Amino acid sequence: MTNTLLILPGDGIGPEVMAQVRRVIDWFGANRGMPFEVSEGLVGGIAYDEEGAPISDATMEVAQSVDAVLLGAVGGPKWDDLDFKDKPERGLLRLRKDMDLFANLRPAQCFDALADFSSLKPDLVAGLDMMIVRELTSGVYFGEPRGVSHDGNERVGVNTHRYTESEIARVARSAFELARKRRNRVCSMEKRNVMEAGILWHDVVQEVHDAEYGDVELTHMLADAGGMQIVRAPKQFDVILTDNLFGDMLSDVAAMLTGSLGMLPSASLGAPMANGRPKALYEPVHGSAPDIAGRGVANPIACILSFAMALRYSFDAGDGADLLEGAVQSVLADGVRTGDLMGPEGGTPVGTAQMGDAILAKLDAA
Ligand code: IPM
Ligand code: MG
Repeated sequence: MTNTLLILPGDGIGPEVMAQVRRVIDWFGANRGMPFEVSEGLVGGIAYDEEGAPISDATMEVAQSVDAVLLGAVGGPKWDDLDFKDKPERGLLRLRKDMDLFANLRPAQCFDALADFSSLKPDLVAGLDMMIVRELTSGVYFGEPRGVSHDGNERVGVNTHRYTESEIARVARSAFELARKRRNRVCSMEKRNVMEAGILWHDVVQEVHDAEYGDVELTHMLADAGGMQIVRAPKQFDVILTDNLFGDMLSDVAAMLTGSLGMLPSASLGAPMANGRPKALYEPVHGSAPDIAGRGVANPIACILSFAMALRYSFDAGDGADLLEGAVQSVLADGVRTGDLMGPEGGTPVGTAQMGDAILAKLDAA
């Protein structure tokens, strides 16, 4: 089977970090007998500037046809004042919605060499390995009605938090399936104490569990208490299952615990395509970092690890993913650091391309 990829470098540091991913992709083609057919397109502010929309219909068509989309980052101050529909983020949201990427996998993993970077005590996070499964195509991000209107002489902002039973059930299945390949535990988070949709969320997750996944340990937490527990004792969690908005917040909190936002990848998965592979988009958790863009200092690891997730979830190459993740671990253990990973003890940070060099050298040596 050929492996097809669409690369969307996007804005800010996106193109710089993606250049390193391209080298890794080529390495797998040359050394692992995994050739990739790679096409490239625009997304975000640069797509608006050059094509008049944060993602064009033509790019969407390619995205729908490939095995996996790899995205860098979108956004930047240059586009802050655009109409809502033209904002860079709308490109990303259209990809998620039109490809129906309902399960967003966000690992929060603490790399041994970086435990000191956490805002928590190192022993609370050393060895941390949890996965947030965030529903990505529904809830308050997309619910109707929405908008700002007038009520008498004041404005009213409205968004709708809405979930159907089938939307909850399918993302719950993703979480349970994943848990079976990990430590077999799922904690589901909602606010059933104040939201009817939270009651439905709780009940459907429990029903899917009882009918199909009785072997997996399931617990429930109110999302606010869950946030507190993530900071108090993060290692109690294996897989956290939650909705779109809570998942957005909780995954940022979890990411920060690892002390290294520049390190974390994500996968957004949909239903299987005709070839059996899921619709998929992979992207780093970090943003476009306009403050350091263009200087060659950004950390490419999150984007490189996003490709590792693509190897695992789209290309059935878990061994390749292990190899690449091992190369990253080993580079960090050697003390190779981009600027974002420099501790108070100092040292000389490497640039984006040197980090790429170091990872490729480890792959060559493996
Ligand atoms: C994320 C981001 C996006 C979101 C933005 C950029 C639309 O914060 O992927 O977590 O809110 O989902
Ligand atoms: Mg977010």
